[in-house]
Amino acid sequence: MATYANFARFYDQIMGDRSEEVERIRGYIKRYLPGAGSLLELGCGTGALLGPLAGDMPVTGVDRSAEMLAIAAKQAPTARLVESDMTAFSLGTRFDVVICFFDTLNHLPRFDLWHELFRRVREHLVEGGLFLFDVNTTGRLRGLCRGTGYVEDFGEHTLVMTFAAAPGEVTIWDTRIFERLDGDLHRLHREVTPELAVPLAMIRASLDPDFELLDEADIDGGTVSDEVERVYFAYRHRGGSGG
Ligand SMILES: C[S@@+](CC[C@H](N)C(=O)[O-])C[C@H]1O[C@@H](n2cnc3c(N)ncnc32)[C@H](O)[C@@H]1O
Repeated sequence: MATYANFARFYDQIMGDRSEEVERIRGYIKRYLPGAGSLLELGCGTGALLGPLAGDMPVTGVDRSAEMLAIAAKQAPTARLVESDMTAFSLGTRFDVVICFFDTLNHLPRFDLWHELFRRVREHLVEGGLFLFDVNTTGRLRGLCRGTGYVEDFGEHTLVMTFAAAPGEVTIWDTRIFERLDGDLHRLHREVTPELAVPLAMIRASLDPDFELLDEADIDGGTVSDEVERVYFAYRHRGGSGG
């Protein structure tokens, strides 16, 4: 069973309002490719982003979790949804925009898998198309491991998250959801998800031959570094070999 199977039902309730990310994506498209007419999301999850974006243009989502995609089918009913690993798929078509958002790239636990994903992006983007993504930085993930984790109530239920360092800049996210059933009776749902952090210079170097960097930003528009929480990238496919 792929990760997120247990998480799917609670995901949107925990993540809350996603309109900031949707507006960020719309802003990049408006600025760098205003005529864009198709969009592919890698790791689309519950369709929290695809749902609103489907109002702007035809959208496609790839995710390996059947449970997340079942929710996406309701939230983004016009989207084409494909159950597949985002490092190994071929849709036989190209898109104007490819997005990979909400630290989904960090879910690939080895850097060679990031390279595979970048190859899939090249194969599925038109020449001049946009590749938009974000990452959790090495600084953020190391900071989470130093902390004590957190506990949060959502609705009737409780979320407990802890983080542990594993070799090679991998952080193990241990998510426990205590679903309240009746009074003090709870059912435990647990997901263990590794996240890999990669220094920003390595990400840029890996994309440089085939993609032009248009924009990089931290969450509040400050200076980008490996110590800020999350970095947003906008790249343009230079075209050429297409492979
Ligand atoms: C943090 S969620 C983000 C979902 C969505 N992008 C959003 O912004 O709400 C990460 C998603 O990536 C998917 N995922 C993780 N690794 C994957 C892989 N190798 N191939 C396809 N999907 C993957 C998970 O199933 C999950 O739905």
